[in-house]
Amino acid sequence: MATVYYTASTLDGFLATPEHSLDWLFAVEHEPGLEADMAAFTDSVGALVMGSSTYRWVYEHDDLAARPEQWREWYGERPAWVLTHREQPVVEGADIRFTQAPVARVHAEATAAAGERDVWVLGGGEVVGQLADEGLLDRLVVTIAPVTLGAGAPLLPRVLESDRLTLTHVQRAGQLVSLTYDVGPLPR
Ligand SMILES: NC(=O)c1ccc[n+]([C@@H]2O[C@H](COP(=O)([O-])OP(=O)(O)OC[C@H]3O[C@@H](n4cnc5c(N)ncnc54)[C@H](OP(=O)(O)O)[C@@H]3O)[C@@H](O)[C@H]2O)c1
Repeated sequence: MATVYYTASTLDGFLATPEHSLDWLFAVEHEPGLEADMAAFTDSVGALVMGSSTYRWVYEHDDLAARPEQWREWYGERPAWVLTHREQPVVEGADIRFTQAPVARVHAEATAAAGERDVWVLGGGEVVGQLADEGLLDRLVVTIAPVTLGAGAPLLPRVLESDRLTLTHVQRAGQLVSLTYDVGPLPR
């Protein structure tokens, strides 16, 4: 089992525009190869962790207030931990746990729930950074789109030097390229 940050990024390292738009990603033609890879990845996942902006984006983008069943279509029965200090809208019938517990505790709970499967950290970058600070991030899978935004939500606002990142897989799908890195232990 591993804790994996699986995400898409612009060429200049942003997850979303400053207004939280992902239109730049949907503007790129998607090839079936990458979608199959994503399906294989989600099959390997037993629990989800994300920050509240990511949750709100999913909630609004998929119109979960009107169509809560969409959550299950994407994430199945997997439990999800959403880090937040605020009250958030609830998705009816979904196992979503809003928390402001320390990330190490959230990670321990998500890992226990995932069992033999992986924990998918959806983002954003600061949540992933908090996990990386604790040495709790095992893998990065970043799909890069051919676009620069100049500003936005950063992919991973931390220093992870090249001696801690091992490139283990590269896949090209049309205009998109997916890079997988194993993350080594924290420096002593
Ligand atoms: N390109 C992609 O594939 C991709 C993937 C993921 C996300 N995204 C997008 O990228 C953007 C990410 O934005 P972001 O970096 O601002 O987002 P984020 O990590 O999703 O959310 C950040 C918020 O989470 C809460 N939070 C973070 N750490 C916490 C902690 N330890 N305890 C309690 N609450 C905590 C805080 O909000 P509160 O005020 O609620 O406390 C914080 O402002 C979003 O627009 C998202 O939709 C894109």
